[in-house]
Amino acid sequence: MSSIAQQLMHNRLFSQVYERLWRPTFTRLFSLGGSGTADFDKALTAYLSRPGERLILDVACGPGNYTRKLADGLRGDGRCIGIDFSPSMLTQAARTNATGRASYIRADAHATPFADNTFDTVTCLAALYLIPDPLPVIDELVRVTRPGGEVVIFTSVATELTTLPGVRPLTEMSGYRIFGKHEIVDRLHTAGADHVEQTITGQGQYVLAVKPG
Ligand SMILES: C[S@@+](CC[C@H](N)C(=O)[O-])C[C@H]1O[C@@H](n2cnc3c(N)ncnc32)[C@H](O)[C@@H]1O
Repeated sequence: MSSIAQQLMHNRLFSQVYERLWRPTFTRLFSLGGSGTADFDKALTAYLSRPGERLILDVACGPGNYTRKLADGLRGDGRCIGIDFSPSMLTQAARTNATGRASYIRADAHATPFADNTFDTVTCLAALYLIPDPLPVIDELVRVTRPGGEVVIFTSVATELTTLPGVRPLTEMSGYRIFGKHEIVDRLHTAGADHVEQTITGQGQYVLAVKPG
């Protein structure tokens, strides 16, 4: 049976309120009402949507809330492709966040329909913690990144709060996984990424990695 979190991702109403209501609230929850995670998120989004002619893949894109922002900075032949396996999320993406440079495909993050070394930037934001078998997805992110390209991840991390008794079983029951501090970084290295930079803000981590050129 799928987890509560997975069921939510396939719910039409949830897909509709995700971008404006759920994601901003959830981002604030990561810093327990503070603004650390939201501030980092803003800076990262500005960096990722810098002007340029790039090919970007947004894995587990949900309703395209980041896909579109990343596409907005693109120039020339630049394109941003969002993939997700939830039909309701993709319907919402097509309705609200499709542009000439942002398009959407239904695919599983474990096996994307792209050749090795294709994308300049590959993002996977706020999704790995919902995926039952998430570490092979990291291998896939690195596989489709071109040499010299970057992989960007936002996900959960173990903190003093999450190690309190009862927290982990409760989150795991809902289908939300808490990663060990080194788990994501180590897997990126194993998958062949380099220059891996981890920033922990609140209960979350941002990880930027480069695939060697
Ligand atoms: C919380 S949303 C994240 C949306 C967006 N990336 C963001 O940062 O707000 C997580 C998404 O991951 C998708 N997802 C979960 N497992 C997946 C898988 N194996 N393959 C593709 N998408 C998946 C869900 O359908 C959902 O849309």
